[in-house]
Amino acid sequence: MVLIAPSLLSADFLKLGEQLALVESSADLIHLDVMDGHFVPNITFGPLLVSAAKRGCKLPLDVHLMIENASCYIDDFVKAGADRISIHVESSTHLDSTIKAIKAHGIKAGVALNPATPEEMLKYVIEEIDLVLVMSVNPGFGGQRFIPEALVKIAAVKAMIDRSNNQECLIAVDGGISDTTIKACHSAGARMFVAGSYVFSAADPKEAIRRLREAVGA
Ligand code: DX5
Ligand code: ZN
Repeated sequence: MVLIAPSLLSADFLKLGEQLALVESSADLIHLDVMDGHFVPNITFGPLLVSAAKRGCKLPLDVHLMIENASCYIDDFVKAGADRISIHVESSTHLDSTIKAIKAHGIKAGVALNPATPEEMLKYVIEEIDLVLVMSVNPGFGGQRFIPEALVKIAAVKAMIDRSNNQECLIAVDGGISDTTIKACHSAGARMFVAGSYVFSAADPKEAIRRLREAVGA
């Protein structure tokens, strides 16, 4: 099982409906990068665009919150149509209660790890979450170069999940994913792949998704 989640960050916002339609039949989820200009040095969009994407396509929406005080905005993103919400370890003073707040809505909860955030931060929440989002770039921008140290972390998270009572927990990798970098991430244990520029900067986004799947034999 391999899940491909194109990140709308690299799409043409003037043609959002068309861009969603381009990937709808070949992607598994749509990844939405919410940035507040505080947690990361960039500002993108909020619930308004998430609800527009909800109306524009049938795929589940994977919302990646790169915002401070994430716990204050969970309800808004659920109302907008998020099917999964991932929060960063550092963005919530009370990580455990924010995870519980997401799950109370009956949707999947993920925890994102920045490149310098150790996987040990997951120790007391690993059995509660559906997804670990391993960042393979420093969050904030699309089109950055893949940080290879992420591979060590993916393997460590995989080992942690294998030791836990939550074998269903999925490992996702986000940043610099291409038909080259995806292979090692898959070998290390990732099964969900977020790809922004590789998909939306391609002449044919659908073909780009096909190449990603082919690279990991899926
Ligand atoms: C980075 C975002 C990513 C980004 C990935 O902060 O979390 O989801 O869109 O873009 P690419 O695939 O271009 O690295
Ligand atoms: Zn992301």
